[in-house]
Amino acid sequence: MPSLATLPVPQMELPVVSFFGRTLQEYCRFFAIDPVKLRGRAVLDVAAGPSSFTAEAVSGGVDAVAVDPLYDHSPVELSEQIARDYQRMFMQMRAKPGLFRLKAFASFEAAEVDRRSAAQRFLNDYEGNIRHGRYVRAALPLLPFLDGAFDLVLCAHLLFIYAARFDFEWHLEACCELARVSGGEVRIHPVCGADGRVYGELERLRRELLARGVHSAVVPVDYEFFAGGTSMLVLSRRG
Ligand SMILES: C[S@@+](CC[C@H](N)C(=O)[O-])C[C@H]1O[C@@H](n2cnc3c(N)ncnc32)[C@H](O)[C@@H]1O
Repeated sequence: MPSLATLPVPQMELPVVSFFGRTLQEYCRFFAIDPVKLRGRAVLDVAAGPSSFTAEAVSGGVDAVAVDPLYDHSPVELSEQIARDYQRMFMQMRAKPGLFRLKAFASFEAAEVDRRSAAQRFLNDYEGNIRHGRYVRAALPLLPFLDGAFDLVLCAHLLFIYAARFDFEWHLEACCELARVSGGEVRIHPVCGADGRVYGELERLRRELLARGVHSAVVPVDYEFFAGGTSMLVLSRRG
Protein backbone atom coordinates (compact mmCIF):
# COMPACT_ATOMS: atom_id res chain seq x y z
CA MET A 1 0.00 0.00 0.00
CA PRO A 2 1.48 3.44 -0.91
CA SER A 3 2.26 5.74 2.01
CA LEU A 4 0.24 8.96 2.32
CA ALA A 5 3.30 10.91 1.16
CA THR A 6 3.29 9.12 -2.22
CA LEU A 7 -0.45 9.35 -2.91
CA PRO A 8 -1.23 11.90 -5.66
CA VAL A 9 -2.85 15.11 -4.41
CA PRO A 10 -6.38 15.43 -5.88
CA GLN A 11 -6.70 18.48 -8.08
CA MET A 12 -8.65 20.15 -10.86
CA GLU A 13 -7.60 19.02 -14.35
CA LEU A 14 -6.80 22.25 -16.19
CA PRO A 15 -5.27 21.24 -19.53
CA VAL A 16 -6.08 24.67 -21.01
CA VAL A 17 -6.96 28.03 -19.48
CA SER A 18 -10.75 27.95 -19.41
CA PHE A 19 -12.87 30.75 -20.82
CA PHE A 20 -15.07 30.76 -17.74
CA GLY A 21 -16.51 33.73 -15.84
CA ARG A 22 -18.30 34.97 -12.79
CA THR A 23 -20.66 37.83 -11.88
CA LEU A 24 -19.89 41.19 -10.22
CA GLN A 25 -21.49 39.88 -7.03
CA GLU A 26 -19.03 36.96 -6.88
CA TYR A 27 -16.11 39.32 -7.66
CA CYS A 28 -17.22 41.50 -4.74
CA ARG A 29 -16.94 38.50 -2.41
CA PHE A 30 -13.52 37.21 -3.46
CA PHE A 31 -11.98 40.67 -3.90
CA ALA A 32 -13.71 42.21 -0.85
CA ILE A 33 -14.86 45.24 -2.87
CA ASP A 34 -17.92 47.48 -2.64
CA PRO A 35 -19.03 48.52 -6.16
CA VAL A 36 -20.69 51.67 -4.82
CA LYS A 37 -17.31 52.91 -3.59
CA LEU A 38 -15.85 52.27 -7.06
CA ARG A 39 -18.24 54.70 -8.82
CA GLY A 40 -16.28 57.08 -11.03
CA ARG A 41 -13.03 55.13 -10.51
CA ALA A 42 -11.00 53.46 -13.26
CA VAL A 43 -10.93 49.68 -12.71
CA LEU A 44 -9.14 47.11 -14.88
CA ASP A 45 -10.17 43.44 -14.89
CA VAL A 46 -7.29 41.35 -16.32
CA ALA A 47 -7.98 37.78 -17.57
CA ALA A 48 -11.64 38.76 -17.47
CA GLY A 49 -12.91 35.98 -19.77
CA PRO A 50 -16.72 35.86 -19.99
CA SER A 51 -17.13 37.46 -16.57
CA SER A 52 -19.93 40.03 -16.32
CA PHE A 53 -17.97 42.18 -13.84
CA THR A 54 -17.18 44.88 -16.40
CA ALA A 55 -20.66 45.04 -17.96
CA GLU A 56 -22.29 45.26 -14.53
CA ALA A 57 -19.72 47.68 -13.09
CA VAL A 58 -20.06 50.08 -16.04
CA SER A 59 -23.84 50.11 -15.64
CA GLY A 60 -23.25 51.02 -11.97
CA GLY A 61 -21.09 54.03 -12.87
CA VAL A 62 -17.63 52.43 -12.65
CA ASP A 63 -15.13 53.24 -15.42
CA ALA A 64 -14.29 49.56 -15.98
CA VAL A 65 -12.20 47.93 -18.73
CA ALA A 66 -11.69 44.19 -19.33
CA VAL A 67 -8.64 42.46 -20.81
CA ASP A 68 -8.36 38.94 -22.23
CA PRO A 69 -6.30 37.31 -25.00
CA LEU A 70 -9.50 35.97 -26.61
CA TYR A 71 -11.10 39.36 -27.12
CA ASP A 72 -10.18 39.36 -30.81
CA HIS A 73 -12.75 36.59 -31.39
CA SER A 74 -16.29 37.15 -32.62
CA PRO A 75 -19.26 36.85 -30.23
CA VAL A 76 -20.27 33.62 -32.01
CA GLU A 77 -16.80 32.10 -31.55
CA LEU A 78 -16.74 33.12 -27.87
CA SER A 79 -20.21 31.72 -27.34
CA GLU A 80 -18.99 28.36 -28.74
CA GLN A 81 -15.90 28.51 -26.51
CA ILE A 82 -18.13 29.20 -23.49
CA ALA A 83 -20.34 26.21 -24.34
CA ARG A 84 -17.29 23.88 -24.46
CA ASP A 85 -15.45 25.24 -21.42
CA TYR A 86 -18.50 25.50 -19.18
CA GLN A 87 -19.47 21.89 -19.91
CA ARG A 88 -15.95 20.67 -19.06
CA MET A 89 -15.70 22.74 -15.85
CA PHE A 90 -19.11 21.76 -14.48
CA MET A 91 -18.53 18.07 -15.25
CA GLN A 92 -15.35 18.24 -13.16
CA MET A 93 -17.05 20.03 -10.29
CA ARG A 94 -19.68 17.29 -10.07
CA ALA A 95 -17.05 14.54 -10.46
CA LYS A 96 -14.72 15.99 -7.76
CA PRO A 97 -16.98 17.71 -5.22
CA GLY A 98 -14.29 17.39 -2.53
CA LEU A 99 -12.23 20.07 -4.30
CA PHE A 100 -14.96 22.68 -3.79
CA ARG A 101 -16.70 24.51 -0.97
CA LEU A 102 -20.26 25.74 -1.38
CA LYS A 103 -19.86 28.85 0.76
CA ALA A 104 -21.20 31.32 -1.83
CA PHE A 105 -23.84 29.01 -3.39
CA ALA A 106 -26.50 26.61 -2.12
CA SER A 107 -25.51 23.94 -4.69
CA PHE A 108 -23.46 23.28 -7.84
CA GLU A 109 -26.69 23.85 -9.79
CA ALA A 110 -27.00 27.34 -8.30
CA ALA A 111 -23.33 28.04 -9.12
CA GLU A 112 -23.88 26.89 -12.69
CA VAL A 113 -26.97 29.08 -13.18
CA ASP A 114 -25.09 32.09 -11.79
CA ARG A 115 -21.94 31.61 -13.91
CA ARG A 116 -24.00 30.96 -17.06
CA SER A 117 -25.88 34.21 -16.39
CA ALA A 118 -22.49 35.96 -16.14
CA ALA A 119 -21.44 34.62 -19.56
CA GLN A 120 -24.75 35.66 -21.14
CA ARG A 121 -24.48 39.18 -19.71
CA PHE A 122 -20.88 39.37 -20.97
CA LEU A 123 -21.90 38.25 -24.50
CA ASN A 124 -24.73 40.81 -24.61
CA ASP A 125 -22.28 43.59 -23.73
CA TYR A 126 -19.23 42.39 -25.68
CA GLU A 127 -20.33 42.90 -29.28
CA GLY A 128 -21.36 46.53 -28.90
CA ASN A 129 -18.43 47.60 -26.78
CA ILE A 130 -15.25 46.18 -28.34
CA ARG A 131 -15.00 49.26 -30.51
CA HIS A 132 -15.45 51.53 -27.48
CA GLY A 133 -12.36 50.01 -25.88
CA ARG A 134 -14.22 48.33 -23.03
CA TYR A 135 -12.94 44.87 -24.08
CA VAL A 136 -9.23 44.91 -24.91
CA ARG A 137 -7.26 42.02 -26.36
CA ALA A 138 -4.01 41.58 -24.42
CA ALA A 139 -2.13 38.90 -22.48
CA LEU A 140 -0.01 39.02 -19.36
CA PRO A 141 2.81 39.72 -18.87
CA LEU A 142 2.26 42.70 -21.22
CA LEU A 143 -0.60 45.19 -20.86
CA PRO A 144 -1.17 48.04 -23.34
CA PHE A 145 -1.79 50.77 -20.73
CA LEU A 146 0.19 53.68 -19.27
CA ASP A 147 1.82 53.47 -15.85
CA GLY A 148 -0.75 54.01 -13.09
CA ALA A 149 -3.65 54.23 -15.57
CA PHE A 150 -6.14 52.52 -13.22
CA ASP A 151 -7.21 53.15 -9.63
CA LEU A 152 -7.69 49.42 -9.04
CA VAL A 153 -6.51 46.36 -11.00
CA LEU A 154 -8.16 42.95 -10.52
CA CYS A 155 -7.03 39.53 -11.73
CA ALA A 156 -8.99 36.38 -10.82
CA HIS A 157 -8.47 32.71 -11.58
CA LEU A 158 -5.35 32.93 -13.72
CA LEU A 159 -2.25 33.39 -11.54
CA PHE A 160 -1.37 30.48 -9.21
CA ILE A 161 -4.35 28.33 -10.30
CA TYR A 162 -2.54 27.64 -13.60
CA ALA A 163 0.94 27.37 -12.06
CA ALA A 164 1.50 24.13 -14.01
CA ARG A 165 1.36 26.17 -17.24
CA PHE A 166 3.03 29.42 -16.15
CA ASP A 167 6.42 29.30 -14.43
CA PHE A 168 7.77 31.44 -11.58
CA GLU A 169 9.34 34.05 -13.89
CA TRP A 170 6.02 34.50 -15.66
CA HIS A 171 4.25 35.04 -12.33
CA LEU A 172 6.86 37.60 -11.28
CA GLU A 173 6.62 39.52 -14.57
CA ALA A 174 2.81 39.34 -14.51
CA CYS A 175 2.65 40.77 -10.96
CA CYS A 176 5.08 43.59 -11.86
CA GLU A 177 3.01 44.45 -14.93
CA LEU A 178 -0.26 44.47 -12.96
CA ALA A 179 1.39 46.76 -10.39
CA ARG A 180 2.79 49.03 -13.14
CA VAL A 181 -0.65 49.87 -14.59
CA SER A 182 -2.20 50.40 -11.16
CA GLY A 183 -2.03 53.77 -9.41
CA GLY A 184 -3.50 52.12 -6.31
CA GLU A 185 -3.88 48.44 -5.52
CA VAL A 186 -3.79 45.18 -7.43
CA ARG A 187 -5.95 42.35 -6.09
CA ILE A 188 -5.30 38.76 -7.19
CA HIS A 189 -7.51 35.79 -6.24
CA PRO A 190 -7.06 32.99 -5.33
CA VAL A 191 -3.56 32.48 -3.94
CA CYS A 192 -3.72 28.68 -4.25
CA GLY A 193 -3.08 26.22 -7.07
CA ALA A 194 -5.42 23.67 -8.67
CA ASP A 195 -4.72 21.33 -5.72
CA GLY A 196 -6.02 23.89 -3.19
CA ARG A 197 -2.55 24.43 -1.67
CA VAL A 198 -1.05 27.91 -1.30
CA TYR A 199 1.23 28.71 -4.26
CA GLY A 200 4.51 26.99 -3.38
CA GLU A 201 6.70 29.94 -4.48
CA LEU A 202 4.61 32.62 -2.76
CA GLU A 203 7.23 33.81 -0.27
CA ARG A 204 9.96 33.93 -2.95
CA LEU A 205 7.57 35.84 -5.23
CA ARG A 206 6.83 38.38 -2.48
CA ARG A 207 10.55 38.86 -1.76
CA GLU A 208 11.33 39.40 -5.47
CA LEU A 209 8.42 41.82 -5.78
CA LEU A 210 9.63 43.82 -2.80
CA ALA A 211 13.09 44.02 -4.36
CA ARG A 212 11.33 45.66 -7.35
CA GLY A 213 9.42 48.13 -5.17
CA VAL A 214 6.13 46.20 -5.07
CA HIS A 215 4.71 45.64 -1.58
CA SER A 216 2.37 42.69 -0.99
CA ALA A 217 -0.02 41.28 1.61
CA VAL A 218 -2.06 38.09 1.76
CA VAL A 219 -5.53 39.11 2.93
CA PRO A 220 -8.28 36.63 3.96
CA VAL A 221 -11.65 37.03 2.18
CA ASP A 222 -15.16 35.89 3.15
CA TYR A 223 -15.40 33.47 0.22
CA GLU A 224 -14.40 29.96 -0.82
CA PHE A 225 -15.24 28.01 -3.96
CA PHE A 226 -12.00 26.22 -4.83
CA ALA A 227 -11.17 24.51 -1.54
CA GLY A 228 -8.29 26.55 -0.13
CA GLY A 229 -9.17 29.70 -2.11
CA THR A 230 -9.86 31.83 0.96
CA SER A 231 -7.55 34.79 0.38
CA MET A 232 -6.30 37.37 -2.10
CA LEU A 233 -2.85 38.77 -2.78
CA VAL A 234 -2.83 42.58 -2.60
CA LEU A 235 -0.02 44.45 -4.37
CA SER A 236 0.84 48.11 -4.15
CA ARG A 237 3.76 50.34 -5.12
CA ARG A 238 3.17 52.52 -2.07
CA GLY A 239 3.46 49.90 0.65
C1 LIG B 1 -10.77 31.01 -15.66
S1 LIG B 1 -10.92 32.48 -16.62
C2 LIG B 1 -11.18 33.68 -15.36
C3 LIG B 1 -12.23 34.71 -15.74
C4 LIG B 1 -12.58 35.74 -14.67
N1 LIG B 1 -11.41 36.46 -14.23
C5 LIG B 1 -13.25 35.10 -13.47
O1 LIG B 1 -12.61 34.93 -12.43
O2 LIG B 1 -14.44 34.79 -13.56
C6 LIG B 1 -9.21 32.76 -17.09
C7 LIG B 1 -9.06 33.70 -18.27
O3 LIG B 1 -7.66 33.99 -18.45
C8 LIG B 1 -7.46 34.24 -19.83
N2 LIG B 1 -6.00 34.15 -20.10
C9 LIG B 1 -5.26 33.10 -20.52
N3 LIG B 1 -3.96 33.43 -20.62
C10 LIG B 1 -3.87 34.75 -20.26
C11 LIG B 1 -2.79 35.69 -20.16
N4 LIG B 1 -1.53 35.34 -20.46
N5 LIG B 1 -3.07 36.94 -19.77
C12 LIG B 1 -4.34 37.32 -19.45
N6 LIG B 1 -5.39 36.47 -19.52
C13 LIG B 1 -5.17 35.21 -19.92
C14 LIG B 1 -8.30 33.17 -20.52
O4 LIG B 1 -8.60 33.50 -21.87
C15 LIG B 1 -9.54 33.13 -19.61
O5 LIG B 1 -10.58 33.93 -20.11
